[in-house]
Amino acid sequence: MNNFSAVILAAGPGTRMLSSLPKVMHKLSGKPLLRWVLDSVVKLKPDSIVIVLGYKANVIKDYLLESNFKNIKFVYQEKQLGTAHAVMQTEEIFKNYDGSIVVVNGDVPLIKSSTLMSLVKNNKKNEASVTVLSAKIDNPFGYGRIVRENGFLERIVEEKDATILDKRIKEVNSGIYCFDKSLWKSLLEIKSNNAKKEYYITDTIAILKRLGKKVSLVMVKDESEIKGINSREELLQTEDVLRAKKVNELLNAGVTILDAKNVYVSYDAKIGRETVIYPGVFIDVGVSIGEGCVIKGASYILNSRINKGSVILYSYIEGASIEANVKIGPFANIRYGTVLKENVKIGNFSEIKNSVIAKNSKINHLSYIGDAQIGKNVNIGAGTITCNYDGVNKYRTIIGENAFIGSNVNFVAPVEIGREALIAAGSTITCDVPSKKLAIARAKQEIKRKRF
Ligand code: UD1
Ligand code: MG
Repeated sequence: MNNFSAVILAAGPGTRMLSSLPKVMHKLSGKPLLRWVLDSVVKLKPDSIVIVLGYKANVIKDYLLESNFKNIKFVYQEKQLGTAHAVMQTEEIFKNYDGSIVVVNGDVPLIKSSTLMSLVKNNKKNEASVTVLSAKIDNPFGYGRIVRENGFLERIVEEKDATILDKRIKEVNSGIYCFDKSLWKSLLEIKSNNAKKEYYITDTIAILKRLGKKVSLVMVKDESEIKGINSREELLQTEDVLRAKKVNELLNAGVTILDAKNVYVSYDAKIGRETVIYPGVFIDVGVSIGEGCVIKGASYILNSRINKGSVILYSYIEGASIEANVKIGPFANIRYGTVLKENVKIGNFSEIKNSVIAKNSKINHLSYIGDAQIGKNVNIGAGTITCNYDGVNKYRTIIGENAFIGSNVNFVAPVEIGREALIAAGSTITCDVPSKKLAIARAKQEIKRKRF
């Protein structure tokens, strides 16, 4: 028992996104906003996590279940009547619970676990009924403002209800709070007589004060941590903040980035020292790159591992495992299930899918290799194709080590080529070829008299 539970608010449609997707499912650096919040909350191991769903609840629920989140409770807020109304929907779950309740808006993706924990600790230490997380922000427009009296938290006023004087306040409400049990009592007193005609959770502050309870604040230094996302513009701004932080982290870890404004590096990318990232590179989620690699120009990499010393030029790589000193591109397409072992070379306009290419092998020009297993030191000539699909099923091509494949060869799979075999250029290979043999499968050349 940690003596606190978390409630995440995610029922709103996010009207300002102008989207059919619920706002909290919009992705920041490849990960839905809600998932960012949830990942921070999960780390703290609260007694329970409750998510309030409403607009397109199933889209969110299905995503979370698919992502293997267990032990999360869902409650439904049929009509989204405001943040206080959303929290009210969880009362039944907590009716016999004595611990604190941390309430987090689902649209505050950069909140850190440690900051959430500091709220819980502060609430306990100060014996407060609520601790609000705030930050000073240069442009506070849109946020609820923290109104203090004699330096102490008095109430929170929403942008739409704020006076000109209130609007000058730069300390804002993060939408993250830690409450004790008096939360439930204060919720009963909330009214919707405000500009939005909604039940605001922020009104609990003034109510608790009126009830003689202690209210407290924790101010976070880094304002980006509490950035709420309400529009695509704010999503992009936060993406920029996140990317700048990631770029700095990588530079400080010995990675060279030639143009920070022209690379996209996912928050979870792992990149080794002395790797050089050129402008135009897009490193999406699930990528790790070893030391001393070069990634150049308009390359896209997703869910792949690239080992040290490899060079990627203008290429697309997804779901691949690439070992040391491999050279790819320019203009290669390396698809799911591909394993390229040490020193492999994949050249221009070659596509590799679901294939293992062993050490030192070369596929240098204009090839399609799919569902294949290629031994070491194999040379695949220009324009070679594995014909792996008959319109219904896929079949494998196996090529033994040290085989030499001439240019423009078709392998009609399933087919197996023995080690050290030689396949003549232009052959269409339909039968297995034994080791150390030469196979030629093409029409004989004829020389004829020219008519005109
Ligand atoms: C809220 C706060 C504001 C704070 C800001 C921080 C209120 C009244 N205002 O404003 O003080 O500065 O967050 O980002 O709380 N939601 C529901 N059900 C509802 C309404 C909202 O679950 O009926 C959820 C939304 O899905 C969202 C979160 O609550 O995840 C916050 O709602 P949003 O509309 O973004 O509130 P803000 O206007 O940003
Ligand atoms: Mg918001």
